[in-house]
Amino acid sequence: MQIFKKQKDLNLFLESEREKSNSIALVPTMGGLHDGHLSLVAKAKNLAEIVVVSIFVNPTQFARGEDFDDYPNTFENDKFLLESKKIDVLFIPSKEEIYPHGTESDYKVGAIGQILCGAFRPSHFDGVAQVVKRFFEIVKPNYAVFGEKDFQQLLIIKSLVKNLHLDIKIESMPTQREHDGLAMSTRNKYLSDIDRERAPHFYSVLSAIRDLILGGKDISEAREVGINSLSKSFEVEYFEVLNANNLTQIETKTSEIIIISAIRFGGTRLIDNLVFRRKNV
Ligand code: PAF
Repeated sequence: MQIFKKQKDLNLFLESEREKSNSIALVPTMGGLHDGHLSLVAKAKNLAEIVVVSIFVNPTQFARGEDFDDYPNTFENDKFLLESKKIDVLFIPSKEEIYPHGTESDYKVGAIGQILCGAFRPSHFDGVAQVVKRFFEIVKPNYAVFGEKDFQQLLIIKSLVKNLHLDIKIESMPTQREHDGLAMSTRNKYLSDIDRERAPHFYSVLSAIRDLILGGKDISEAREVGINSLSKSFEVEYFEVLNANNLTQIETKTSEIIIISAIRFGGTRLIDNLVFRRKNV
């Protein structure tokens, strides 16, 4: 595994690989790697000859008062894990390397970035789109792989690629879960022992609501049950049942459904979702 800090060194390496007709898959991360990230790496290895993983904690996707300064830094462990997966390149740029002309961004995500997580983190998705666009410019990958836990982010990145007519295939991997159902997340490290014990209830509620809907329960009634049930243990930021293709309201003919939610408890914010198909519509 080669480690690059500078765009120009990375580009020299990637140019020589492109000359050999080798394809490139990018897995952008902010570090704090867990099995969810490693599933993205495994997917990337299946897609392309060369796998580039980036670690960069992007300041522009954090609002003031969020956890930018405390974001888990587990670099030595991340490096060890990536080495063991035999990726080709670890790219760890500085802020100056990513934003040489400052952090002003010309790309605006639009309406899809203002709902759900975007309603609670108003500038978040513009920052995500900004940094992902920048990584695409630098790496020029054939493929890029993202996790489905950040489902809204995934749709936003797919629309970025479409809007900018980029020749990059966006691939995704399902959420990886702990043995008790809790979605793997770098932020799970923030949970106290007691909160860690309570946290799997989040996924239990999502699963129970999915089962209610599959059993024929009315969507808005199921949503109410979900909110009431989560509210007993957590502060619910949002809990929605939506069309999984575009995060709009469900219509009679919608078959791909997502239950998507964000909660807060004990100072930690967690997100999760479940996508499923409704039969006979
Ligand atoms: O999902 C993440 O870890 C980040 O939002 C990403 C895509 C690496 C951009 O900073």
